[in-house]
Amino acid sequence: MPNTVTKAIFPVAGLGTRFLPATKSVPKEIMTLVDRPLVQYAIDEARAAGIEEFIFVTSRGKSALEDYFDHSPILEQELLRKGRTDLLDALKQTDMESGQIAYIRQHKPMGLGHAVWCARQLIADEPFAVILPDDVIAAEKPCLQQMIEAYEETGGNMVAAMEVPHEKTSSYGVLDAAEDRGSVVSIKDMVEKPKADEAPSNLAVIGRYILSPSVMQNLHEMKEDTGGEIQLTDAIAEDIAAGGNAFGYLFRGQRFDCGSKAGFLQATVAFGLARDDLRDDLMNYLAEMVQANRAAQ
Ligand code: UTP
Repeated sequence: MPNTVTKAIFPVAGLGTRFLPATKSVPKEIMTLVDRPLVQYAIDEARAAGIEEFIFVTSRGKSALEDYFDHSPILEQELLRKGRTDLLDALKQTDMESGQIAYIRQHKPMGLGHAVWCARQLIADEPFAVILPDDVIAAEKPCLQQMIEAYEETGGNMVAAMEVPHEKTSSYGVLDAAEDRGSVVSIKDMVEKPKADEAPSNLAVIGRYILSPSVMQNLHEMKEDTGGEIQLTDAIAEDIAAGGNAFGYLFRGQRFDCGSKAGFLQATVAFGLARDDLRDDLMNYLAEMVQANRAAQ
């Protein structure tokens, strides 16, 4: 049977505390890089990889996200009346066929693993992708598409991975991987947020996964950790311990941690500079700012 993946889970039920007070009323995933919210980048990447069903795990206060993928008849009529076909085209990115997108509530923020488990009844017995929209990856070939192509050869579980400085491992799930550093590495174990001196490597898991149904089954049986959360990393590690295959995929592309303020600002600049209509003004402005700041120091 070919390893096809047609469903993706987007866990977006976190509290987004690093962006308070903004995230008190604006979901993090609706914050924009230039003129597109984070969630649009995630959906585009999933579509490019052949995903057909989009499952959002949401929480209280995320209705702006549901509205974003809804039709907006008054706005559309007004744009039509004004002949703004350019803007009507821009709106088309947000079109979803009825039934293609589902929203499930995570009632308490009990961790990423728990959020993924909330979607269990829509996944049934098939492999599925997980995309964290706050990890934005700029790449010629979208990251999930790269991974699905590799996964068609390997099967098993696959996580996106990248090398991080050793002192940063405590912010990530970290791979205990075979030495060979091709683009696909075989994983022996995974550890959630290890201290730098205990980390098995500097290969960190980034927010893209392709998972087998047995990982969902593990989540079903898991207990909360001491922090009261259920970790996705632990469910994958358990699958490996039970003899399942897992692979780290070292993607080609640049990842921005848009869940952090610094990462979000860097992404804003990078995506602004990538736009023909903004590049020159932005570059001049940045050069002036850098010069003025240096002079003031
Ligand atoms: P983060 O660790 O970035 O947490 O979650 P967060 O709540 O979004 O942000 P901070 O740390 O408070 O600023 C990584 C991803 O997992 C989802 C988040 O929405 C985000 O996409 N998540 C996390 C859930 O869906 N549920 C949870 O219980 C925890």
